[in-house]
Amino acid sequence: MNIVVIGAQWGDEGKGKIVDFLAGDAAAIVRYAGGANAGHTIVLGAEQYALHLVPSGILYPGKRVFLGSGMVIDPEALFAELGALKERGIDWEGRALISDRAHIVLPRYREIDKERDAGRKKPIGTTGRGIGVTYSLKSDRDGIRVADLLWEEKMRDLEPSDRDFLARYRDKLLAMSTDMAVEMRRLRGQNVLLEGAQGTLLDLDLGTYPFVSSGMSSAAGAAVGAGIGPGAIDAVIGVFKAYSTRVGNGPMPSEFDEGADSALCAFVRETGREYGVTTGRPRRCGYLDLVALRYACAVNSMDALALTHLDIYDTLDEVEACVAYRIGGRETTDFPASVEALSQAQPVLRKFPGWKRPLKKCRSFESLPQRARDYVAFIEDYTETPVGIVSVGYERGETIIRRNPWQTKR
Ligand code: IMO
Ligand code: MG
Repeated sequence: MNIVVIGAQWGDEGKGKIVDFLAGDAAAIVRYAGGANAGHTIVLGAEQYALHLVPSGILYPGKRVFLGSGMVIDPEALFAELGALKERGIDWEGRALISDRAHIVLPRYREIDKERDAGRKKPIGTTGRGIGVTYSLKSDRDGIRVADLLWEEKMRDLEPSDRDFLARYRDKLLAMSTDMAVEMRRLRGQNVLLEGAQGTLLDLDLGTYPFVSSGMSSAAGAAVGAGIGPGAIDAVIGVFKAYSTRVGNGPMPSEFDEGADSALCAFVRETGREYGVTTGRPRRCGYLDLVALRYACAVNSMDALALTHLDIYDTLDEVEACVAYRIGGRETTDFPASVEALSQAQPVLRKFPGWKRPLKKCRSFESLPQRARDYVAFIEDYTETPVGIVSVGYERGETIIRRNPWQTKR
């Protein structure tokens, strides 16, 4: 069975925790998009891990993880991350493998990324990791793939500094390189978890273009980025938070108002630890945007949702969510393509009574307070998608499973 886990918002939805949880039942984990722009946090007891390139399944001893062809891989960042894992006792040799079709990020791409973004009239606020530069070279057919390290003529024609850089990492990368078509064929009949990065609204095609990342972070990207056809995907799980966040620039219709909502914004940011794992930037925060979430469910043919950070709202008297946009005097529940329309959109909010009880210890849906269940039921009705998993804390065990995706047939 192949299950895809993706972000249903603007990234940072808690994918790392959900992937880590589901990885327990997987034979292999494949990350299929993005690069070192991602930051996936996993908490195991007193230990906290921040992963950027390495799939979240690495923390299970012996489990195989793959960096898929849809990824862009910065060798410096990769080996720094693997080195740090090794120092903490996580063995990765022989079980962390890279698609030979994945593209390589050169150090100078990071500088070009930063310069380009600073030169934009409206900067995107990229992570400066060279992501867009690498994907655009890929589309332009000038990229460098892992398999190219064996292509002598191509290496010879590179700039000397690029060639020297690649020569330093050549043997290490080739030792990890594999053919994902072969690997995925061998894995047929076993459980494979396809781990997304970023989120639907940062997807190059489906997101709030041009304020997006450059990879295919939506469910469709999982097939190409891992090395299977779309028909082989058995379920798509979309992860979302009980509220919204966004890092970098671009429209966010349900963003908390700087004046009226400043106390709520500070509360959510501090309680939810809403600071970038990759860049340390404070994240922009806002109400749960159901218009955007329903759009994400539709464009990904989402089978189920995983709701995270519900416990952040434990102490509030009232919880609000955005159920429509008001744009130029008209109300809509459809998510517009135009960033101009999105920037003008005013959120139409709906109030829910708060549950005012800690959720951290709840382990079944029935044990959640009625008001929390009502909030979840409203989300399910609105998005026409079941909420199969609810996370009530950072720890692996602080999770409620209503539908185990490995045991749910379409
Ligand atoms: P995870 O996997 C949140 C955002 C950046 C910027 C835009 C483009 O942790 O959810 P890029 O460097 O990719 O060209 O930047 O995309 N961005 C993310 N925001 N979570 C992420 O990943 C992100 N990856 C990229 O902040 O606005
Ligand atoms: Mg993140």
